[in-house]
Amino acid sequence: MNRILSGMRPTGKLHIGHLYGALSNYVKLQKKYDSYYFIADLHVLTTNYEHTETIRRNRVEVMLDWLASGIDPEKSVLFIQSKVPEHTYLTLLLSMIVPLPWVERNTTVKEMIRDLNLREKASYGLLGYPILMASDIIIYKANYVPVGKDQVHHLEITREIVRRFNNLYGNLFPEPQALLTEFPSIPGLDGKKMSKSLNNDIKIADTEEETTRKVMSAITDPAKVHLGDIGHPEICTIFKYHKIFNKEEAPQIEKDCKSGKLGCVSCKKRLAEKLNASLKEIRNRRKSLAGREKEITEIFEEGSKKAQKVASETLKQVMYLMKID
Ligand code: TRP
Repeated sequence: MNRILSGMRPTGKLHIGHLYGALSNYVKLQKKYDSYYFIADLHVLTTNYEHTETIRRNRVEVMLDWLASGIDPEKSVLFIQSKVPEHTYLTLLLSMIVPLPWVERNTTVKEMIRDLNLREKASYGLLGYPILMASDIIIYKANYVPVGKDQVHHLEITREIVRRFNNLYGNLFPEPQALLTEFPSIPGLDGKKMSKSLNNDIKIADTEEETTRKVMSAITDPAKVHLGDIGHPEICTIFKYHKIFNKEEAPQIEKDCKSGKLGCVSCKKRLAEKLNASLKEIRNRRKSLAGREKEITEIFEEGSKKAQKVASETLKQVMYLMKID
């Protein structure tokens, strides 16, 4: 069976962009593949090394969101990156063979430096981000990596590293391929990319009231101020959401918005209802899991032990091939 692996940085409670862009895909894939999913806590340090006090809590939040979404520890190996130190050993070994230009021209890292306004705070560890990511993947000899478009460049570097290693020391690693999700990406409530830091997201863990409040405050078509004004659903974020979460009613909503019959307030109310309905089950499950944090942490500890068995075997093979065993 082919193996897949994916990871997520624990930066806080996950939002519906994560849910529909990644988690629902993980749930589907775990039925077909030998699946490894991990919490990439070391990757948080590449940008957030000044605020490490949030990492422990955020790891637990991610565990709750994953399990509530239906990721199943019986089907997938669920683990924590930092509990498998073999990743970091392999990272060091790989860093010796990666030519500087490969990391220097990494556009994704450059974008992170720009978007997070890191400037002189950008660290050596951040430069090595794609090497750590390559280690995460190849230490399990994964064939496929479900990721978003923004991660494709990192994955290309992984493939380059694999080819270089295999050429230098012997054929050990398969070249992993990206598995892109087909789900359309969900914009944030302001139309920008959905992100916690932009405060434009709807969280899995939000209450129904919070969700409704957020939807009601979203920006719609600026030309439509009063009920009766003619709307332009093609530029409206709320309409994009209707097309995703309220498929059956979307054509009618489009018509009634354009004709002026439907006002933004009731249009948003309908969306909030649909959204809350589609999240109800996951939210209920999350609530009941929240009281069992100790047990849940243990699931990830157990998974980390399973992962470590595989990782240490690969690391042995690497050291043998590099003649440092
Ligand atoms: N870079 C990924 C992200 O920011 C997280 C990640 C780390 C990852 N290592 C990985 C994803 C390995 C897939 C495979 O979302």
